[in-house]
Order: sequence, then C-alpha cells, then structure tokens
Amino acid sequence: MTENIENLRTIVLRPQDCSEKMKEKFVQLVAAGGEAEEHRVRYSLPYSEVLIFTGFGNTIIGVGALLRPKTIYIQHLFECAGEPQMSNPYSIESCWLSVSEAYRGKGVWRHNNSAKLDYIGDRPYHTIRRVANKSVADLSKEQEYVHVGKDFFSPISKHKLRLMAANHDPVFDPSKKLRYS
Ligand SMILES: CC(C)(COP(=O)(O)OP(=O)(O)OC[C@H]1O[C@@H](n2cnc3c(N)ncnc32)[C@H](O)[C@@H]1OP(=O)(O)O)[C@@H](O)C(=O)NCCC(=O)NCCS
Repeated sequence: MTENIENLRTIVLRPQDCSEKMKEKFVQLVAAGGEAEEHRVRYSLPYSEVLIFTGFGNTIIGVGALLRPKTIYIQHLFECAGEPQMSNPYSIESCWLSVSEAYRGKGVWRHNNSAKLDYIGDRPYHTIRRVANKSVADLSKEQEYVHVGKDFFSPISKHKLRLMAANHDPVFDPSKKLRYS
C-alpha cells in the first residue's frame, strides 16, 4: 500500500468492535502524542463511544475518539470557562487526537477529523485543549469550533485549559430535540 495521502482510510469503530491489537495501538499513539496519560486512556477507552483510526492498509498512523461524558463534568467545563448557560448535557467530547510524529503535517488529522464530523452529524460536541499546545493553539486557523468563554484552570489538569464547542446554542434549550443525520 503506497503511503500517499490519497490512500488514507479512516474507520470509526465502537471500542467493543476493535481487536486488542487495535486498542493497544490506539493507547500507544495517544500516549506518544503527550497530551493524555497512558493509564487514563487505557482506563477510559472501553467507555468511549467510538475510536477513530486513520492509516494506510493495516498501518494505523492517526487516532481520535469521542466520549460521552457525565453531565456534571460537562457543566464543570462550561462553568470554568464562565459560560454555564451554554452547557449542553448531550455534548460529546472529542479527544485523544494524535498523529504519529513521522506523519504529521500531511493531512492525517484532517482525514481523521472529516470522518469524525460525518459521524457526529448535528450533535453538539466540545473539546478541551492545553493553551500551551502550539500544534492546536492557533485559533485563527479554527473553522470547526467556537472558543467558549475564557481559558481556565481546573482540578482535572495542572495545565491552563481552553474549551471549544461546536453545534452548541449560546444558551442551552432543553426543549430542542436531537436530530441524527
Ligand atoms: C495536532 C495533531 C493531531 C495534528 O495532526 P496532523 O496530521 O499533523 O495535522 P494535519 O496535517 O491534518 O494538519 C492540520 C491542518 O489543520 C490546521 N488547523 C486547523 N485548526 C487548527 C488549530 N486550531 N491550530 C492549528 N492548526 C489548525 C492546520 O493549520 C493544518 O492545516 P495546513 O495543512 O493548511 O497547515 C498532531 O500534531 C499531533 O498528534 N500532536 C500531538 C498530540 C496533540 O497535540 N493532540 C491534540 C490534542 S488537543
């Protein structure tokens, strides 16, 4: 299989449908990205909604995931950012993005992200980033998310965090029904 960006393939799988080998590769790639501790990824992986794998043939070079956090955790994030009225209990968390160092800057994240967006459809989602993470901190390049409120510190991390959200109303409307596309 040629390692050409046109040959990239991304698949979206529930954790229970992944082989042990795929899950192990997922954990290793996320740990190598340096943004999440390995033991936490290993612990939370079975509770994720889906894992998203990008690669050539059987070689996985980029991953991401979607989690369904507890409502209280979502509220905590939006309160920390100073926008509690925007908190949406149905918001899913996009996390654990990591691309193998040798393949960065070639559009692997873009490929992985595009499959993620197709999967999410109209559902609200959010992500948290470390403000100091230069590879994702440039908001002028951001098309998908709005920056929610102010960057903040929280007991969930020793780093300054930034909350980003998409498909969220400025004020959560509980009477709105979810649409799945
Ligand atoms: C961040 C990471 C996943 C990017 O992967 P990648 O495959 O190198 O990214 P891509 O090649 O698809 O490029 C992404 C594109 O999105 C753009 N982009 C979109 N939003 C961006 C943002 N908020 N900040 C910076 N770039 C952004 C980039 O400029 C780039 O566009 P370009 O090709 O025109 O320069 C990768 O650097 C990585 O694994 N880093 C370590 C782990 C990490 O930081 N994960 C993110 C945790 S939130």
